[in-house]
Amino acid sequence: MTTLLATDSVTLESWLSDSDERTLANDVLDGFTRPFKEIPPKHFYDTRGSELFERICEQPEYYPTRAETAILAHAADQIIAQTGAGELVELGAGASDKARILLDAMEQAGTLRRYIPLDVSESVVRDAAEALIHDYDGLRVHGVIGDFERHLERVPMRDGVPRLVALLGGTIGNFPPGSRRALLRRIAGLLGPGDRLLLGTDLVKDPDVIEAAYDDGAGVTAEFNRNVLHVINRELDADFPVENFDHIAFFDRRHEWIEMRLRARRPCSVRIAGVGLRVEFAAGEELRTEISAKFTQRRLAEDFAAAGLVLEGWFTDAEQQFGLSLAGRSSAA
Ligand code: SAH
Ligand code: AVI
Repeated sequence: MTTLLATDSVTLESWLSDSDERTLANDVLDGFTRPFKEIPPKHFYDTRGSELFERICEQPEYYPTRAETAILAHAADQIIAQTGAGELVELGAGASDKARILLDAMEQAGTLRRYIPLDVSESVVRDAAEALIHDYDGLRVHGVIGDFERHLERVPMRDGVPRLVALLGGTIGNFPPGSRRALLRRIAGLLGPGDRLLLGTDLVKDPDVIEAAYDDGAGVTAEFNRNVLHVINRELDADFPVENFDHIAFFDRRHEWIEMRLRARRPCSVRIAGVGLRVEFAAGEELRTEISAKFTQRRLAEDFAAAGLVLEGWFTDAEQQFGLSLAGRSSAA
């Protein structure tokens, strides 16, 4: 662990080190030697990837951010009144824009103590921490730079007040069903009796609306998708011809998830020196870079039950585009 900053109001710790380049290396070794090539979406998010994601959120086609923000604006006071939360732990916090709505409600309720963002992207956690302590009197920020699949136990102990653990943006949908339930179960393990999970999920809807959201007219999502190749080129000394790859986004109706892929226009042979691998792409061959599952209340109920969670509150927007669940640990868990 490296302490990057420690003042009265901000602590910033990083649990990512050379072993994390090895995580990328292992994911590349696994993913590029499979019959169907793929790479996990967490590798999108270097500084440029995080900036591109923030620009995606501003695109007219990308409805999830607007829908979830509207729900929070409506429901935050009730969520804080119902939970009495004084600490907000946010997994995959990004720029922490949505956290502000919850922090405002906590400040208003007089419970606000501490905000604990956890993210793989150091730049977003650092920038958010500096801005937040400036904007909220007396707030303490404990930023954890880490991977929520590996570093959940690095979330600091609670400070005697109820906690809200948030996973927003639909990020849980980026995991296939088995890993999704395993992650939810581990998150449930973070919850004490008075703590609650706040989970944001994108909902099943017209496939045209979903596909447009993942293929915006300005081409920002396409650039975000290709960014993973820039990350591999830089971190693993690879020579992907990035512009040879087209952005693909399609809704898989059977699984009810959208997939993003990169499709090679022409055949190419790529050297990934950092892992001693040469990878061949045929013309038209695709690399899967992300799935983003869309939910029904039934699917959520099944996932919660499998993870030892009980639904205690459900909030949605007027068009029912997005859902926000408040859940606690089931007594059987
Ligand atoms: N919560 C924000 C950001 C969503 S984008 C919102 O709702 O707008 C997903 C965020 O999760 C990014 O900031 C990315 O860096 C982070 N992330 C993705 N995989 C992660 C992982 N395995 N561990 C920690 N953070 C992760
Ligand atoms: C972070 N995650 C929930 C986003 C999503 O919608 O699946 C990432 C994203 N991919 C393309 N656009 C946005």
